[in-house]
Amino acid sequence: MTQLLEARSLDKRFGGLHVTRNVSFSLTEGERLALIGPNGAGKTTLVHQISGVLRPDSGAIHLRGENVTRQHQAGRVRAGLARTFQITTLAPHFPVQRQIELALFERERLTWRAWRRIDSYPALQAEAQELLARFGLRRHAATPTQDLAYGEQRLVEMALALALRPQVLLLDEPMAGVPKGDGARLLAALDALPRELGVLIVEHDMELVFRFATRILVLAEGAVLADGTPEQIRRDPKVRAAYLGN
Ligand SMILES: Nc1ncnc2c1ncn2[C@@H]1O[C@H](COP(=O)(O)OP(=O)(O)O)[C@@H](O)[C@H]1O
Ligand SMILES: [Mg+2]
Repeated sequence: MTQLLEARSLDKRFGGLHVTRNVSFSLTEGERLALIGPNGAGKTTLVHQISGVLRPDSGAIHLRGENVTRQHQAGRVRAGLARTFQITTLAPHFPVQRQIELALFERERLTWRAWRRIDSYPALQAEAQELLARFGLRRHAATPTQDLAYGEQRLVEMALALALRPQVLLLDEPMAGVPKGDGARLLAALDALPRELGVLIVEHDMELVFRFATRILVLAEGAVLADGTPEQIRRDPKVRAAYLGN
């Protein structure tokens, strides 16, 4: 299996607070790695170091063998890493389909001007249609994203991340705030992610974690408490004591 992502001995402090302590892990092709741990364990801080939002104080991050520790977010995206952005930080008044087309144009390094002649790019138009269909968003193609239900906005965010054709996808609590009734569609979208994609997901819902993950990394107070298959994690006494309870 191809190694996609490797984090080596990451350390990060915020002033006197040591929030990432010597964290190492790897992610291979097709793997679904869930990052779990109590609130404040340092999960988001770790994900931010992977995506390039934050620089680790020490340690290294390799993406498909390339050391990207000093690269900015855009460089990591080009190296095959995508994370979801909140729609609200993009262009909320844009219709869903246009938003997806724009992401595809960005991936192809085409300009805004080219995008206005989208009819000349039938392959990209077809790809936008495929993404809409994959996420069950066809009937919302013309809807401004800001008018979608909250759970549907999460689907658009995932479609936009996939539009970049990443090898690695980072998802930080994709289900947070999604009403129970909309959860099923999001779960279906997770299940339908391209098989070869490596996925790192932060999620609190343990039912989802144990259903979706092929491996689980447990963080506690910034350090790796355990790293193993769902079965190993379920039976790990340290994890049960620190996090899972009984
Ligand atoms: N930018 C920051 N400056 C200072 N402290 C921070 C910052 N971001 C997070 N922290 C602190 O780092 C710790 C880990 O936070 P976080 O990574 O958000 O945890 P989690 O996502 O596991 O809940 C917390 O104690 C939090 O208050
Ligand atoms: Mg968090």
